[in-house]
Amino acid sequence: MDDTATQARAPQTHALPIGHMRDGDVEALVSLWERAGLIRPWNDPRADIALARRGPHSTILVARDAADAVVGSVMVGHDGHRGWIYYLAVDPALTRQGLGRRLAHTAEDWLQARGVPKLMLLVRPENEQVRAFYAASGYIEEPRIIFTKRLDGK
Ligand SMILES: CC(C)(COP(=O)(O)OP(=O)(O)OC[C@H]1O[C@@H](n2cnc3c(N)ncnc32)[C@H](O)[C@@H]1OP(=O)(O)O)[C@@H](O)C(=O)NCCC(=O)NCCS
Repeated sequence: MDDTATQARAPQTHALPIGHMRDGDVEALVSLWERAGLIRPWNDPRADIALARRGPHSTILVARDAADAVVGSVMVGHDGHRGWIYYLAVDPALTRQGLGRRLAHTAEDWLQARGVPKLMLLVRPENEQVRAFYAASGYIEEPRIIFTKRLDGK
């Protein structure tokens, strides 16, 4: 087997750096979330980004490829009791190479460093693939009913 064939088979994402998003990443991040199917009509992703970056209790971590493009993300924060993650996304061209798990682990590390004892997240019940991802990543499904209330008049 020649080197080209070996490189073609090698995971492309295992060494990609993960760090805090930068000011100039907003549009690239929204584009990633669109490609990953995470944008909902009732959520304004730019407002979500601004709110997550406003204080010290939440942040957005991104993975970058060799060309510095944003190819993965996770929003992480805590409310003084539990940690939460949102917008976990991997570029559809780079899935199933372990990047989603690395992003989740990086968010877990961020919370652990702040003494947060438990991480929570929401998944729609029909989203079997994402349920499989979290189950494979050490997360436990707990049956609960979620109550919500909009505070923005929408
Ligand atoms: C969910 C998501 C982040 C996973 O990212 P990823 O980089 O493909 O995940 P990994 O490669 O780290 O997967 C780890 C393990 O999870 C499981 N898994 C991941 N995707 C899966 C799928 N589509 N179906 C079944 N199992 C899956 C597998 O066990 C996998 O290990 P394997 O590839 O060795 O079998 C990615 O598919 C994504 O961006 N989805 C769209 C956005 C989304 O729905 N995000 C979740 C919001 S709550």
